[in-house]
Amino acid sequence: MFPSALPVPRLPERKAIPSLRWGIIGPGWIADHFANALKQHSDQQLIAVCGRRAEKVRAFAERWDIAHTFTQAEDLLSLRDLDAVYIATPHNHHFPDGMQALRAGKHVLIEKPLALNAAEAAALQAAARAADRLCMEAMWCDFTPKYDVLRQLLADGALGDLHTLIADHGEFFTAEHRIFNPELAGGPMLDLGSYLVAFSIMIGGAPETIIARGEPAPGGVNGQTSMLFTHAQGLHSVLNTTLFSNTPGRATLAGRDATLVLDGQFYAPGNFTLTSSQGNHVLRWEEPANRYSQLAHEAEHFAWCIGQGMTDSPIRSLATSLLTLTTMDEARRQMGIVFNEERPPRTA
Ligand SMILES: NC(=O)c1ccc[n+]([C@@H]2O[C@H](COP(=O)([O-])OP(=O)(O)OC[C@H]3O[C@@H](n4cnc5c(N)ncnc54)[C@H](OP(=O)(O)O)[C@@H]3O)[C@@H](O)[C@H]2O)c1
Repeated sequence: MFPSALPVPRLPERKAIPSLRWGIIGPGWIADHFANALKQHSDQQLIAVCGRRAEKVRAFAERWDIAHTFTQAEDLLSLRDLDAVYIATPHNHHFPDGMQALRAGKHVLIEKPLALNAAEAAALQAAARAADRLCMEAMWCDFTPKYDVLRQLLADGALGDLHTLIADHGEFFTAEHRIFNPELAGGPMLDLGSYLVAFSIMIGGAPETIIARGEPAPGGVNGQTSMLFTHAQGLHSVLNTTLFSNTPGRATLAGRDATLVLDGQFYAPGNFTLTSSQGNHVLRWEEPANRYSQLAHEAEHFAWCIGQGMTDSPIRSLATSLLTLTTMDEARRQMGIVFNEERPPRTA
């Protein structure tokens, strides 16, 4: 049945969101957007920041009015009144930084991807259980109003039997960007690709089969990946991610009864259109593409979980993050992509 109207997004009630005292590790590009979003759009408090270079840390703290600055994570983690840590370091630092925060007894929100691979993610899951602390991947799109509307449409079966998901995420990067750096687990998979794989799993569940092909970039990392997943009930996901060019970043999800087209970039705030298969009914979601202000939703959901006494998110559970990484591990295995941390140590 084609819906008469789009579902209303379900966000936590303001009064059910405790105001946490946050520390940030990795005051880089996304941390700046995160701090801005928290300051502008939430009641969350930023009380500490830690980075490698004292001058940069101080400038970050001044910009966002943060009281405590550190260049060693252990010093930040020893702050007694710190409730939660946001980790915004490069991919291959998420696991060691996350483990350190959990072992210090802090709740931890880790930038996507949660870790380099499923083995690291499983170790984080075990550490979170042992510490009885919340550990959540900052897959920020999952907590936005648009994604909640999508989840409700899917749960209601508004599209009928699902057959085809086609999505892309290509961005042009200059050669000096960390994404081309093999020392920082570069390549599109953990960065742009994680949005595609997470979206496909949100819609179709764990892939039953995976086919992946890649193209190398100069410098040794993967530069482009195309994936075909088959899921239960005959859904196919056709996904492409590249560091070589800008692509529309659109996603199309076609069901027997209706087709959903998310404007690029599909995971970010923006418009989508749901059209019945006969073409006689159309519903449209419209919102400003105010991408980074919506980072506040992930922090508010995280704080809400803590307020509810939860140690795993009902929206982005660690099991879901693990499944995303298991899928990316298999795609990488087929393409022969191995991160430095996964290589056996050299012997003399
Ligand atoms: N949610 C989103 O929309 C979004 C968008 C972009 C990125 N991300 C994720 O956020 C993470 C950080 O990305 P970013 O673009 O913010 O990166 P970035 O600007 O390079 O910032 C990385 C931060 O980590 C620190 N760092 C610690 N150890 C490092 C090392 N060995 N090499 C380089 N930097 C190191 C950097 O230190 P210094 O301060 O000393 O330079 C910097 O503060 C990535 O995992 C990425 O996937 C998420």
